[in-house]
Order: sequence, then C-alpha cells, then structure tokens
Amino acid sequence: MLDFLRHGLMKGARQTGAIAPSGAALARAMTASLRAARGPRRVLEVGPGTGAVTGHILRELRGGDSFDLVELNAEFCRILEGRYLAPFRGRLPQVPVCLFEGAVEDVELESGYDFVLCALPFNNFSPTLMRSILRRLIKLTRPGGELCFFEYALLRSIKSPLASRAARERIRRIDATVRALRRRLVSDRELVLRNVPPAYAVRLRTPAA
Ligand SMILES: C[S@@+](CC[C@H](N)C(=O)[O-])C[C@H]1O[C@@H](n2cnc3c(N)ncnc32)[C@H](O)[C@@H]1O
Repeated sequence: MLDFLRHGLMKGARQTGAIAPSGAALARAMTASLRAARGPRRVLEVGPGTGAVTGHILRELRGGDSFDLVELNAEFCRILEGRYLAPFRGRLPQVPVCLFEGAVEDVELESGYDFVLCALPFNNFSPTLMRSILRRLIKLTRPGGELCFFEYALLRSIKSPLASRAARERIRRIDATVRALRRRLVSDRELVLRNVPPAYAVRLRTPAA
C-alpha cells in the first residue's frame, strides 16, 4: 500500500489512476474465470502495479500455463520482480513468467492469450488512446478467450458535474466506448462493494473462431 502510494504518486496520479491498490475482493472477481478454467492457460496482466491482482493470478498457475505482465512504472516492476515473480520462479520454474517494462501500446506481444486482465486507469486516458488499447487487448485475446478490466462504480457520474466541459465530454466518450463493447461482445460485470472505491469487474468474451 505504501509502495503503491509513494511510487505511484511520484510517477503522477494520472498514470497510476488509483488512490489504493485493488482489494482482495476485486482481485478475486478479476480472476474468477481463470480459477474456473482448466489449463494449459496463457495469461496476460496489464498494469499490475505492486501486485494486488498478480498474487491471485500466480496462485492459480500450474505446469503448462504461462504468464506475461506489462507495467509502465519501473519502480513497480522492481517491486513485482522481488516480491512475486522471483519467488514464484523459484517454486515453479516450469511455468514461464515474463515481465515487460513499458507501455502496453508499445510492447511486442504474441496474441492468443486465454485471459487478459487489465487494470489500466482508462478514466485518465484520452478516448482515442483508450479505444486503441482496448482494440489491441481484444486482438491479443484468443477467440473465445476473456478480457477483464475494472471500472470504479459511479466515479464517472460523480466526476461529471464537477468537471470542465471538455473533461465531461471525455468521460462521456469513455463511457460510450465501454457500453458499445459490452453490447458487441458477450459480457457480464460484477459489482464489488468491498473495494475502495467500489468497482465493477467487467468481463468480455471474444467471439469463438
Ligand atoms: C490503477 S493501477 C492498478 C494497479 C494494480 N493492478 C491494482 O489493481 O491495484 C494502474 C497501473 O497501470 C500502470 N499503467 C498505466 N499506464 C500504463 C500503460 N500504458 N501500460 C502499462 N501499464 C500502465 C500504472 O503504472 C499502474 O501500475
């Protein structure tokens, strides 16, 4: 929690996009489908931060699975390596785990992931960037696979009346993008009240081939 605040705020609240790491209840909602699926599974986590969801993913991995992570903040990468990834490799060296330091827009990744879990602060992005990242994440997910991300409940409605006209328009476009995707793909969302702030885990299933 302190690492998240210290190094997250140093990089700027815009890039980190949260006042606290996700709680255990939200991490469980994000990993529910992964827990229910039999292996082998290819998993991608985008924006792992200091590892609030990563720990829950690692717990599920078995021989035959593989796990990639993409994190922009170099200090968060150092923490993830030391706290989670290096100890995991020591325990289960047969499961390949690869951490990419950089922006998910730029890092080269091979598509075909069964599960893509994303915690990017979309509310702070331009609608154009958000749309292009979501398009990329959908392409990276195999047909019939799942893309899961979270949205803070009510945050957009609370922010809207206080924001400038331009910011309101940005929030409206971000909201419209998520709604359109939820209509186009098979989707469900789970409200997690036991999180600060409460959040929805949004799950999108890509069409089977
Ligand atoms: C809201 S925090 C989530 C942290 C953690 N997964 C959690 O649930 O508590 C968002 C994370 O996304 C990272 N991030 C922001 N923009 C990114 C980008 N373009 N590519 C990869 N990571 C990014 C931030 O550095 C931060 O660690």
